[in-house]
Amino acid sequence: MQIMITGANGQLGQALLRILPGAVGLARPAVDITDADAVERAVAAHRPDVIVHAAAMTDVDGAARDPDLAYRINGLGTQAVALAAARHGAVVAYVSSNEVFDGQAGRPYTEFDPVRAINPYGASKLAGEPRGSRAGAAGTSSTASSNWPTSVAAYAWSATRSPTRPLSTTWLTRSRA
Ligand SMILES: NC(=O)c1ccc[n+]([C@@H]2O[C@H](COP(=O)([O-])OP(=O)(O)OC[C@H]3O[C@@H](n4cnc5c(N)ncnc54)[C@H](OP(=O)(O)O)[C@@H]3O)[C@@H](O)[C@H]2O)c1
Repeated sequence: MQIMITGANGQLGQALLRILPGAVGLARPAVDITDADAVERAVAAHRPDVIVHAAAMTDVDGAARDPDLAYRINGLGTQAVALAAARHGAVVAYVSSNEVFDGQAGRPYTEFDPVRAINPYGASKLAGEPRGSRAGAAGTSSTASSNWPTSVAAYAWSATRSPTRPLSTTWLTRSRA
């Protein structure tokens, strides 16, 4: 099974590459996810079964200063990944954010809870959720535990067994906001 990891130089990407030997990592500047053609070329070249989409603009303050850029990367960049995946039959594991919730629930959130992004970063990550899931993908989110890369890797593995599971039936319970 071929696994591709976007955001390969990031915190999650690096952790995943350590625990998923043989995975292909994509990173800037070779592949900028806002360049749909570059994403398509990379996916066509490697033909992954699963893409763990860990690339994102994660600078919360930067996203507040430049919400358009956050949307381009986290929303439209995710769309580019999802569409390339769909064209080549890959499943996408999309890592979302606790910041798609407002934190008012007073209990741990589940994937069935209504979303209300608390800031432009959360809004941009939320924009990526349906775009990611359009490829028959699964949305994930961060967890409070220190082994969340392992959880994401486990999901990526299991996704190949049930690649058509929709966003709402994934393994994950979203984190406490
Ligand atoms: N860390 C957390 O606590 C946490 C919590 C919730 C959700 N998440 C989500 O988990 C995922 C991974 O987070 P992380 O902590 O690993 O973030 P990170 O360390 O900031 O890594 C993100 C990576 O994405 C890359 N990237 C940004 N824009 C890109 C673009 N246009 N094209 C290609 N690559 C681009 C960055 O590349 P450069 O190295 O070139 O900047 C960076 O290597 C993200 O989706 C994030 O939203 C993380």
